[in-house]
Amino acid sequence: MKIVRTLPELHAALAELGPVGLVPTMGALHRGHLALAAAARQAKRPVAASIFVNPLQFGPTEDLSRYPRDEAGDLAQLAQAGCDLVWLPDVATMYPSDAASTITVGGPATRWEGAARPGHFAGVATVVAKLFGQVRPHAAYFGEKDWQQVQVIRRFTADFLLPVEIVPVPTVREVDGLALSSRNRFLKPAERLAAPALYAALTRAAAQISGGAAVAESLEAAKHALIAAGMTPDYLALVGAETLEPLERLAQPTRLITAARLGSVRLLDNVAVG
Ligand code: PAF
Repeated sequence: MKIVRTLPELHAALAELGPVGLVPTMGALHRGHLALAAAARQAKRPVAASIFVNPLQFGPTEDLSRYPRDEAGDLAQLAQAGCDLVWLPDVATMYPSDAASTITVGGPATRWEGAARPGHFAGVATVVAKLFGQVRPHAAYFGEKDWQQVQVIRRFTADFLLPVEIVPVPTVREVDGLALSSRNRFLKPAERLAAPALYAALTRAAAQISGGAAVAESLEAAKHALIAAGMTPDYLALVGAETLEPLERLAQPTRLITAARLGSVRLLDNVAVG
């Protein structure tokens, strides 16, 4: 596995490998990221992963400084997952001092995480566009755990006619249903025990809505279940799977999305409905 930290090294490695499948990450890797690498391997092309903790997608009061970092552990996992190349740019490579452009995102970026974290998706879109320009992958792999992020990336990739296939990869879960996330390590033991209530509430509400129950009542019951488990729900909504617009009744394709705070951790999850 080749490890590169500068653009000339990256371009030399890509000249040898040819077009790659890209797994963009912020490090602190877990089995969810390895599932992205496994999906990339299935395309029978070389696999590149990037590790870059992107300051542009963190708000001023967010957890950039405490975002977990473990470069050696990440590299060992990527090597074991059969990655061919790891791209480790520094902040000056990604955001040179003369850089003057960022991407503005609307549509699926507007609500939910977009409203809770102003500037977050613009930061994600900008760094992902830069990664696409640097690595020029044939395809890029993103976890469905961040459902809204995948739709935002799909939208701007289509809007700018970027020649990259965006491949969503299903969420990897712990046996009790908790979606894997780099931030789960910050859950205290009692919070970790309570955390699966998020997925349980989502799957229950999705089954009720699919079975014809009233949407508003099912969502309200799910919110109560989160509160009973000690969480503070931010949103729990039935939305168009691509538009992220709220829906009052079942339409296809439809997603149930949620974010809730548990202790100091903001948990996100989503499931398909219908
Ligand atoms: O999902 C993430 O880890 C990040 O948002 C991404 C896509 C790597 C961009 O920094």
